[in-house]
Amino acid sequence: MKNLVRKTLGRFGLELRRTQDESVPYENFLNLVLAYEQRYMDLGGVIPSNDLRPKLLSRLMGTPPSEAYAIIESLEKTKNLSGDICEFGVAQGATTSIIANEISQSSEKVLHLFDSFEGLPKPTEKDELKDDIFSLGSMEAYEGTMSCPEDMVKTRLKAIQFPDDRCVIHKGFIETSIQGNENLPQQVSFAYIDFDFYEPIKIALEFLHQISPVGAIFVVDDYDFFSTGVKTAVEEFLEERKNESST
Ligand SMILES: C[S@@+](CC[C@H](N)C(=O)[O-])C[C@H]1O[C@@H](n2cnc3c(N)ncnc32)[C@H](O)[C@@H]1O
Repeated sequence: MKNLVRKTLGRFGLELRRTQDESVPYENFLNLVLAYEQRYMDLGGVIPSNDLRPKLLSRLMGTPPSEAYAIIESLEKTKNLSGDICEFGVAQGATTSIIANEISQSSEKVLHLFDSFEGLPKPTEKDELKDDIFSLGSMEAYEGTMSCPEDMVKTRLKAIQFPDDRCVIHKGFIETSIQGNENLPQQVSFAYIDFDFYEPIKIALEFLHQISPVGAIFVVDDYDFFSTGVKTAVEEFLEERKNESST
């Protein structure tokens, strides 16, 4: 019975958890975040203080705060570089809120969001199941999981008062949604890629490479986790760019 519930929830990107023992009172979490930031700065890291950040970090799903800081620090490092911001793989908008909150005051950059809002596509043969995160038993069973309605991210952005005119949502599978799309960014200084599978990640990296200035940062989530395709896409992309001098 428990397995059936777990599998059913898994199809929607949700998981079964006993919260009683695991939940951390928000005040404790806040203290940890502030101590982490202090230590980060002491060690030479650069992150501006931000009152809303701890609350948004506490709402992340599947992204540990330590990984969110890689996004936050990269946004800070690229803030004076020309170009907009992209997120590839939005789902319910948890990491989107982190990104939007960081850029809302510090720049006028536009946030481009790419998602099918229909969940994961069919995996390719390069996607082998490395970590069965929702206990579904096979890579093929993940097709269609993690599907979230577009309104969820819109609601989250509204809640943090991110201006509508600074957000462009590119709805659809990236394999087709970037074809003939006139609203694509012209230049990108930072991108967070969280597509999980080989094909869309490779497409995103190749697209970004054509339109990003030197110094731009792309963070790819789940490297060597869940599907082997993530690591393969990154390694292939880097190998193909080895002989180009300006990257
Ligand atoms: C892991 S979730 C993103 C989670 C989100 N970044 C967060 O941490 O809050 C992956 C998302 O990528 C989207 N996705 C995966 N492959 C895609 C593709 N080929 N085209 C468009 N969206 C895709 C799925 O719909 C899903 O919402």
